[in-house]
Amino acid sequence: MQIKNICCIGAGYVGGPTMAVIALKCPDIKVTVVDLNIDRIAAWNGPIENLPIYEPGLAQVVNKARGRNLFFSTEVDKAIDSAEMIFMAVNTPTKTEGEGAGMAADLRYVEACTKNIARVAKTDKIVIEKSTLPVRTAEKIKEILNKQGSSGVHFEILSNPEFLAEGTAIQDLFKSDRVLIGGDSSEKGQKAVQTLVNIYIKWIPKEKILTTNVWSSELSKLASNAMLAQRISSINSLSALCEKTRADIEELSKAIGMDHRIGPHFLKTSVGFGGSCFQKDILNLVYLCKFYGLHEVAEYWHQVIKINDYQKKRFAQKIIDHFSGDLNGKKIAILGWAFKVNTNDSRESPAIYVAEKLFKAGAIMEIYDPMVSKESVFSDISFYWEVSKIKDLKSRISVNDSLTTLDLSVDAAAILTEWDEFKNLDFSKTIVFDGRGVVSSSKYSIGKG
Ligand code: UDX
Ligand code: UDX
Repeated sequence: MQIKNICCIGAGYVGGPTMAVIALKCPDIKVTVVDLNIDRIAAWNGPIENLPIYEPGLAQVVNKARGRNLFFSTEVDKAIDSAEMIFMAVNTPTKTEGEGAGMAADLRYVEACTKNIARVAKTDKIVIEKSTLPVRTAEKIKEILNKQGSSGVHFEILSNPEFLAEGTAIQDLFKSDRVLIGGDSSEKGQKAVQTLVNIYIKWIPKEKILTTNVWSSELSKLASNAMLAQRISSINSLSALCEKTRADIEELSKAIGMDHRIGPHFLKTSVGFGGSCFQKDILNLVYLCKFYGLHEVAEYWHQVIKINDYQKKRFAQKIIDHFSGDLNGKKIAILGWAFKVNTNDSRESPAIYVAEKLFKAGAIMEIYDPMVSKESVFSDISFYWEVSKIKDLKSRISVNDSLTTLDLSVDAAAILTEWDEFKNLDFSKTIVFDGRGVVSSSKYSIGKG
């Protein structure tokens, strides 16, 4: 099948950058990214310096392709109708109610999109799961499409999970370690796989494009994220032991990582991992294991999350303990709100959890992040914290727009995202807490060890 039109449903952190790169590399294909969120689409179509997502290099890519063969629109049905290939990149949050609440993935958006595709499609479509989904979701998607789709229209379902990390998305998309494509073993299935391979091959070396069956592809995404997060929880658990002994966690990471069988990446101790994927995907994996009666396996992976919760709690508690349990009247600078550097995304950010604990212990807080707006900080607080009225909080929480307006005459500073601009701040009169589990009162410098 010759692909002339691609549609992507979901203009978020995954859909936006991924489609921008596909459009850049395939100028002969028209790529339309659609979303129900009118404001988000307006921002994608607005000034290049105000795109809804901050990613280094993204603006340049969008600037080149937008209006040429990359389009952002809210006309979902129209884009589905004209596309031969449809990516689904909608969010799949953890279920908050019903069976599997708190663990299983909430597939309502994926299901809604699938039903929409079935309703609109009048010609054959290749439907691609881009969102991370539980194993065997493709089966469900297929069932809906075949039951509700027009007769005579053939749907082929592929799994093509995204491995980009926020903050490095564009580089990850340009030079992927691998592109994974799962498809049906039937002739039509393999044809669809090849059609997608033909797109990636425009810039990804052939040997890095891995084709598998659909289930392996779906599970590989969950397992990859679980293995990455497991390394962080392993090192973070050891940071607790380092603090009790005279060992230094950074020296430990270096020594461990120099073993080529282990490698140096993802061994950096932190306040805990955040982001929209790790926790959600691991909980999803745990749920799957339980569903199949594999309780020991479920417990093994669940421990990765439990250590992460422990690390966040331990960090906040360390600050509270420093002030003998009473933060009333104490002013704390919260530096960094994004879940990691080089992104404006704060979903599941450890900063949200730490700030809540400090606030509950009585602290007055000055919050600053170079990329997260005041509105986003308060929207996170109202979403994640157990508080009734945001209005009541504002007397003890201020969010700064710039580092220059930030009052550094605080009782303590907590560095929660490793932005470069925090590296050379002069905290000579303040106690600084950071992800290394170090309490420092001298001039602060990240990476000092
Ligand atoms: C990603 C991935 O797709 C998922 O696999 C991963 O595990 C976490 O999130 P992401 O791009 O980060 O999604 O999410 P988000 O930024 O929330 O974008 C999803 C977009 O889909 C939103 O803009 C939302 O408005 C849109 N959407 C959702 C639709 O257009 N239609 C829907 O029915 C539901
Ligand atoms: C992750 C996966 O890396 C990516 O492949 C997948 O597609 C989506 O989920 P992302 O969540 O965007 O990407 O960022 P990542 O770089 O993995 O960082 C996740 C969290 O782990 C961040 O909070 C980060 O600060 C933390 N982290 C990372 C550590 O605490 N220590 C480390 O050594 C590395």
